[in-house]
Order: sequence, then structure tokens, then C-alpha cells
Amino acid sequence: MEKTFAIIKPDAFAAGSAGKILARIYAEGFKVVGIKKLYMSKVEAEGFYYVHKERPFFAELTEFMSSGPCLVMALEAKGAIKKWRDLMGATNPAEAAEGTLRKEFGTNIGENATHGSDAPETAAFEIPYFFSGLELI
Ligand code: RTP
Ligand code: MG
Repeated sequence: MEKTFAIIKPDAFAAGSAGKILARIYAEGFKVVGIKKLYMSKVEAEGFYYVHKERPFFAELTEFMSSGPCLVMALEAKGAIKKWRDLMGATNPAEAAEGTLRKEFGTNIGENATHGSDAPETAAFEIPYFFSGLELI
């Protein structure tokens, strides 16, 4: 079993879409091994997205991610990383396929409802960034 790290971002959380997104997560067969609501600080968002620090959208992204509460999750499934990215759809909701979460719940390329780890090394950094071992039992 593989684990991935997922976020219901502040836009989707504020819109009250967390319940519907969680229902999809369970319906697709993920096990939710860790889940909590948190309100990220700007510094915490910068640390989380440090790989993007040279990108032009870094300030916008970290401001958005610290603009309100979100739901962070550790999800487990066979091939969880790809499975979750497939369920999310393309980064830009306008290009996301029908039936994907970003198509249904995303607004634009920045405010795109969900986050997912893009590789095993990324998941290995992202899960412990937000969860202690005890929270994943
Ligand atoms: P994520 O990391 O959040 O799961 O999204 P992703 O892999 O599909 O996309 P990535 O390239 O890692 O970008 C991270 C997040 O930055 C915002 N973004 N804004 N304004 C822009 O051009 C732009 N491009 C990316 C999005 O919130 C994206 O999810
Ligand atoms: Mg990414």
C-alpha cells in the first residue's frame, strides 16, 4: 500500500465542498489514515511549497494557502499517488477532465481546490511536514 499527501485547499474548504470531496475519496477506495483541519501561516505555506520558491506564482500561492483553513490528509491506497492525482485532474481546472475534482470544485489555476503529492519522494516530505507518526496510527 502506498501513501500520498492531500489537501482540500482554502477555496474548496471555504465553499463548503470538503464533505463532497471526502465522499469521493472514500468512494474511490482510499483509506484516510490522517486528517485534520488547520490554518496554515504564510511561513508554513512557504516551507511546504519551497520547491516552487523561484516560480513567479510563489507569493500568490503561499498567500492563498494561508488565506483560510484547509483540510490536510494522508491517504492510502494501491498506487495512491497517481490515483489521487488522476482524481484531482489537471492543475488548471479549465483543462481538467470531466469528473475530476478540480473540474468540479476548482476556480482557476491558482485556486484549484486540492493538492496532491507528485512522487514518492514528495509524499515522504509532505506527510511528515504536517503529521506526526502518532497521528497516522
Ligand atoms: P499541487 O502541487 O497543489 O498538487 O498542484 P500541481 O502539482 O498540479 O501543480 P504545481 O505545478 O505543483 O503548482 C502548485 C500550485 O501552485 C499554483 N499555481 N499557480 N498562477 C499560476 O500559473 C500557477 N501555477 C501553479 C496552483 O495552486 C498549483 O496547484
Ligand atoms: Mg505540485
